[in-house]
Amino acid sequence: MSPVLNRRKFLSYLGTGTAALAAAGAGLDGLVKTAEAKGLFHQPGRAKKPKYGPLKFTPIEPSTKDELVLPKGYRYDVIASYGDKINPKGDTFGFNNDYTLYFPMDNKKGRGLLWVNHEYVSDLFVFGRTIETGYTAEQINTLLYNQGGSVIEVYQDSKGWKMDPSSTYARRVTGLTPIDLTGPARGSAAVDGAVTVQGTFANCSGGRTLWNTVLTCEENFESTSKAAKLNQTHYGWVVEVDPFNPRFQIRKHTALGRFNHENTCMGLAKDGRVVVYMGDDKKDACVYKFISKGTYKPKAGKKNAKLLEEGVLYAANFAKGQWIPLTIEAVRKKAEGNSALLERFKTQADVLVNCHEAALLLGGTPTDRPEDVEISPFDGTIFIAHTNNDKHGNFHGHITRFYEKDDDHGALEFQFAIFAAGGIQSGFSAPDNLTFDEDGNLWTVTDISSSSMNTAIWTPFGNNGVFVIPTHGKQEGEAFQFASAPVEAELTGPCFTPDEKTLFLSVQHPGEETEDLAKPTSMWPHRNGDDIPRPSVVAITGF
Ligand code: FEO
Ligand code: CA
Ligand code: CA
Repeated sequence: MSPVLNRRKFLSYLGTGTAALAAAGAGLDGLVKTAEAKGLFHQPGRAKKPKYGPLKFTPIEPSTKDELVLPKGYRYDVIASYGDKINPKGDTFGFNNDYTLYFPMDNKKGRGLLWVNHEYVSDLFVFGRTIETGYTAEQINTLLYNQGGSVIEVYQDSKGWKMDPSSTYARRVTGLTPIDLTGPARGSAAVDGAVTVQGTFANCSGGRTLWNTVLTCEENFESTSKAAKLNQTHYGWVVEVDPFNPRFQIRKHTALGRFNHENTCMGLAKDGRVVVYMGDDKKDACVYKFISKGTYKPKAGKKNAKLLEEGVLYAANFAKGQWIPLTIEAVRKKAEGNSALLERFKTQADVLVNCHEAALLLGGTPTDRPEDVEISPFDGTIFIAHTNNDKHGNFHGHITRFYEKDDDHGALEFQFAIFAAGGIQSGFSAPDNLTFDEDGNLWTVTDISSSSMNTAIWTPFGNNGVFVIPTHGKQEGEAFQFASAPVEAELTGPCFTPDEKTLFLSVQHPGEETEDLAKPTSMWPHRNGDDIPRPSVVAITGF
């Protein structure tokens, strides 16, 4: 018998997470159904029509194998692994690949650029030992070089997908690359006057802009910036890169706030302003959205990047169903009589640099580790993965679905539902990155921590996986497992090619709990001659 008890649709939530409690108390089910029946959540002219086809695979069972397990009929090609040469110059692929974003090349079917984030470094696998007494200068360089991102060129031939190391586009963006600041905090006292900073690291997930650049998100930046003795306020931002154009100045958009950024998802308000949804991945942290001052002009192409320099940043108050503007005026009003806070918050730059504190002060709801936020391309609703929060007894996490007032991403009021919840009733635990397929299914990867995996209440789930959850119809909210990760790995950054015939996926930190290099807990991807496991990006085909 499958260790997962059953997959019935989740109807009531008994956890104690703040967001979950608010949802349970709000009696939303009826509201949401009425609004759906009236078609209130659809966006004429903008929405894609889902095909609602049947599931294209036979779900797999949880697995503990040291292998990337896929349904029958599917296969994967390893296209880039840690340390691989990516270009003629000899640049190498960084460690712990995460977010991937595919950019097809004009007129070249089956060839494109792939942006890949590199989130952090394993001392044991990169330096050959754990570092307890501080890094040498050379080790700091290695630490910084192996984070950031890679632009690689990939192509498909009769044998499968491969990386093209002769690419003239392929390059690295690292913790050593000079990067400009834009927006209100640029040159401000809040960032010690900086207009250019050193590098990007802790790059977790990201998003595509409407003008086809990538936004890569700095998440848990604290340990690297501390180890490298870099200014903490220069990290924790959203960074914009144009994979095709090395002359596009890489920039950190301070108007989008500084926190532990998981990803971004960009949409348009009805009046044409750009809206960016974002999660702050830590316990008891907020969901944010940025609304630009100016409006999107398709003909302006990459000049639209300017839109991310000026606008208003909001935090979600779940109990009121309101987006709260994070302005210096509001913060100072709230801080009246508190001299320490008034000292800390003097300018809008202070609000952006200390975003989490400002958001909580103004009524942003602390939630259970908001990770990926994605807009449904079919009905404009917003899905938010809340990985988990042991502080609230929410051990398996849940996925929230936001319904903006009047279907407008520019609205300042919303309703929400708990779309799916982790647990043995659904078969998944710790939802993280999200994406959609043409049938209207939500794809989620899971991130049970390596230290909890296959122990205690997490035993039935096996290794981390990929799950597919219909967003409409009889099976709405039910999860079906598509992939199971190698030992102690996390699957991240799922990205379909436009024809949905290939899914790019990162396999991050296989063998993460290894203590003795002579006895690695994983050897995935099992390459001949290798003596360590290697984080790698794969291309899955068979759809
Ligand atoms: Fe890097 Fe929130 O996962
Ligand atoms: Ca993540
Ligand atoms: Ca995660």
